[in-house]
Amino acid sequence: MDLTINGKAVQADAEPDMPLLWVLRDQLHLTGTKFGCGVAACGACTVHVDGQAVRSCVTPASALIGKDIRTIESLGSAEQPHALQLAWIAEQVPQCGYCQSGMLMAAAALLAANPHPSDADIDAAMNNICRCGTYQRVRAAIHRAAGAPQIATAQAAPLASKAAEVTA
Ligand code: FES
Ligand code: FES
Repeated sequence: MDLTINGKAVQADAEPDMPLLWVLRDQLHLTGTKFGCGVAACGACTVHVDGQAVRSCVTPASALIGKDIRTIESLGSAEQPHALQLAWIAEQVPQCGYCQSGMLMAAAALLAANPHPSDADIDAAMNNICRCGTYQRVRAAIHRAAGAPQIATAQAAPLASKAAEVTA
């Protein structure tokens, strides 16, 4: 089947009911998207479909033909990190890191829809599970990326440099 992933046309050899997550990881080797629970409960497998956060472990790839699928690999780069990636570094969010790509994709969809979310907005949108308990740092990083008043824009340049080191 023909899919559009991270702006590129790709062909997947998948049965109609194969979840997108399997296509991403096993066929396309886009392993940034993680398998956690497999039943839409944890959010580790979150990607964007037409800008919406979607759990790829329970979404058949065949339902996504003609849609714009985006994975963590397209969120930013070492040269041009997403504001959330800079904020994640500044707030030292990741611990083991396993849930973090899903967290970032959920946060990116939230900010795209609501550029200045309240704590309640964040708590409502971010129902991803983190075994390391990074929830408070995730919230702080989303506020930072949203340009909360406590964020000094002067931090942007050194953070970009740091992000390049980390992702190199
Ligand atoms: S692996 Fe998809 S929600 Fe947990
Ligand atoms: S950082 Fe370890 S599970 Fe979230």
